[in-house]
Amino acid sequence: MLSLEDIRTKLGKYNQSHVLQFWEELAPEAQTNFLSQLSDINFDDVSNLFNRALGSLSEETKKLDTLMEPIPPDQFEYEKGVDEDKLEEYRKKGLKAISKSRVAVLLLAGGQGTRLGVPYPKGMCPISLPSGKTLFQIQAERIRSVVRLAKKETGSTGRVCWYIMTSQATHDATAKFLEGHKYFGLNEDDVVLFQQGLLPSFSYDGRIILDRKDSISLAPDGNGGIYLALRKNNILQDMERRGVKYVHVHSVDNILVKVADPVFIGYCVMKGADCGNKVVRKEVPTEPVGVVCQVDGRFQVVEYSEITDQTANLRDDEGNLIFRAGNICNHFFTTGFLKLISENYEDQLKLHVARKKVPFVNEKGERVTPSSPNGIKIEKFIFDVFQFSKNFVTWEVPRHTEFSPVKNSESAENDCPSTARRDLLKLHKLYIQDAGGTVTCDEVEISPLVSYAGENLVERVYGKVFDGRTVISAEEEVVPNGF
Ligand code: UD1
Repeated sequence: MLSLEDIRTKLGKYNQSHVLQFWEELAPEAQTNFLSQLSDINFDDVSNLFNRALGSLSEETKKLDTLMEPIPPDQFEYEKGVDEDKLEEYRKKGLKAISKSRVAVLLLAGGQGTRLGVPYPKGMCPISLPSGKTLFQIQAERIRSVVRLAKKETGSTGRVCWYIMTSQATHDATAKFLEGHKYFGLNEDDVVLFQQGLLPSFSYDGRIILDRKDSISLAPDGNGGIYLALRKNNILQDMERRGVKYVHVHSVDNILVKVADPVFIGYCVMKGADCGNKVVRKEVPTEPVGVVCQVDGRFQVVEYSEITDQTANLRDDEGNLIFRAGNICNHFFTTGFLKLISENYEDQLKLHVARKKVPFVNEKGERVTPSSPNGIKIEKFIFDVFQFSKNFVTWEVPRHTEFSPVKNSESAENDCPSTARRDLLKLHKLYIQDAGGTVTCDEVEISPLVSYAGENLVERVYGKVFDGRTVISAEEEVVPNGF
């Protein structure tokens, strides 16, 4: 920890001396904690960051239409357009990589879940499923399930390490929850939590905002903080030690996510990709999802706000939207690519700057919650590395089998716990019908430990009628619990 004098000198150099304006009023313990917070900040980096952020703010309204082109056909495949043999080939390739412990999962769980409005990490959200399972439990069990599928296919049991990126806001609760639930049956050594970094919030003139008299305002650095966090926490070395070559990265909020999806992994590996992106078809031009495309010859995700309505509405001869590859925060990376980015390009990632209402302490020492934006928050986005890929591929999947996120509270009526629950149970109904069973209600759930994606069901459901709330679970299953 730096001394008060050293901190004063640094703050003076970067024109941030105001953060110590209440120093003399603080109790000794608060002074020590504040000094520790300030010692962790690299003011040189912070000052550069603010200057870069100012540049991004002025570029904000630039439309990208004239520079955009769709993904070239040889770097894109649609699961439903691929013949069965090819799909099976991809699946087997992915399962083989899993059985050889070459695959890891990296869960992005550092977001603060502001839109959902729960006071705990989103992965702990119970979603009112018949089983009572949370997103964390479902995802952990899908890992166990895919490992078994790989064993069935190859005879070897691979280890799939579950890396979980948390933030200061979500770390302790996540760690406690997973430990309290015995990692949902995963081996404790194969669950690795690490924290992403924080960035200060600034006033428009570049002064760091004081959150309280004894702390500055800090927020997670966005899911693109993953690259710095991988480096700072030595995660890439951990992956190397375990022999991991391929990493499936996804958001915490998608109830349908096929964790360590062998088909997607197999596709990316067979194409020799260093970076791959799973997408769903954007349904209507106004849907607020980013689309993957090329801009000026480089792959990137373009937000709806960055294009005009005319471009968003462009259609091909078959009536499909031309820019339809909707990003769902579901990515494949080789460890080599992650290393390249973390070591060489991390500091070049685009900064996404948003004007926000940031609570602050005024000159009188009173805490104020502003009613209009008063400052900026800076984030990095995970997908801004696509441009550095030497071989980028895109895999489109049907939305109803792979994507239904929990983003909002119930009042939004979309992308909320009840729509996620509805979509999961609808999919499970289809799986049961395909295996020869009948479901006459919307309350039948299949445990991931029974079936990963609809397989293994015939002997459990063939010829049976399910007419009430049921969980098709594995013998080994403990009764799931919420908190
Ligand atoms: C994200 C995508 C968007 C996509 C949408 C689909 C990004 C930047 N945007 O948007 O293109 O259309 O999902 O659902 O990926 N997270 C962290 N740390 C942070 C911030 C977020 O780990 O500092 C995690 C969240 O916990 C979550 C994931 O990143 O698991 C996505 O973050 P979220 O804020 O939900 O992104 P969206 O705005 O929904």
